[in-house]
Amino acid sequence: MGDGLEGLEVGDNVVVEPYFVDGDCDMCQAGSYHLCRQMGFIGLSGGRGGLSEKIVVDARWVHPIGDIPLDEAALIEPLSVAHHAVAQRREAGDTALVDRAGPIGLLTAAVLKGMVVATIISELSQARKEKATSSRVADHVLDPSQEDVPARVLELTGGSGADVAFECAGVNAVLDTMLDAVRPGGVVVNVAIWGAPATVDMQKLVLKEIDLRGTIAYVRDHPR
Ligand SMILES: NC(=O)c1ccc[n+]([C@@H]2O[C@H](COP(=O)([O-])OP(=O)(O)OC[C@H]3O[C@@H](n4cnc5c(N)ncnc54)[C@H](O)[C@@H]3O)[C@@H](O)[C@H]2O)c1
Repeated sequence: MGDGLEGLEVGDNVVVEPYFVDGDCDMCQAGSYHLCRQMGFIGLSGGRGGLSEKIVVDARWVHPIGDIPLDEAALIEPLSVAHHAVAQRREAGDTALVDRAGPIGLLTAAVLKGMVVATIISELSQARKEKATSSRVADHVLDPSQEDVPARVLELTGGSGADVAFECAGVNAVLDTMLDAVRPGGVVVNVAIWGAPATVDMQKLVLKEIDLRGTIAYVRDHPR
């Protein structure tokens, strides 16, 4: 530990918010350090790797975790991604569609459940459908290979559509589904990191005044 550090003791269990930021750019100065012009992540952007045996980080990125077991605490980073994604909702709604239930989708649904939002999860994998049910993060689990997801979402929402949808796959068919499944004035939050450019049916977006927005990582989400 460097000199003068308060609130930390040698031996504390902590998690690290794994950023590199410049601290000087307009985004950092405005407090939006997750949008830093030079933003990078430990591991993805060097820094000798997040799985190194030892690593040095600025105290600002260190979050003590008390007695949370380390194997559970390892989920705080992706949980913070989910927490920040959920914060992108324009307004609180009653029902959210979370499409695809990998770790990010499941944790997004977990945050939504914590905010008393009803969740509809769409997923193909049997194991992930079971996890969505057994973890109780899903109120409804749909299988897009068996069901018409937009039609089922309309049915489950009394004909109105989901207030918000979270794209957690990076798959065009999922994004297409969301434009049909959200209500007029609904929000589609893209969480996925895409490997290739997507197409967006802009006519659906404009006619329903859908708000399509991105979310990256986290900013002050870890403590919460
Ligand atoms: N925005 C951010 O800050 C941020 C942070 C972390 C992860 N992510 C992204 O979030 C997304 C989800 O992460 P994850 O760890 O849950 O990923 P994952 O790969 O474990 O899960 C993605 C889900 O999408 C489904 N899927 C993938 N390709 C498909 C296809 N071609 N057809 C149908 N289904 C398909 C998979 O079955 C899986 O259930 C990824 O794109 C990841 O890069 C974004």
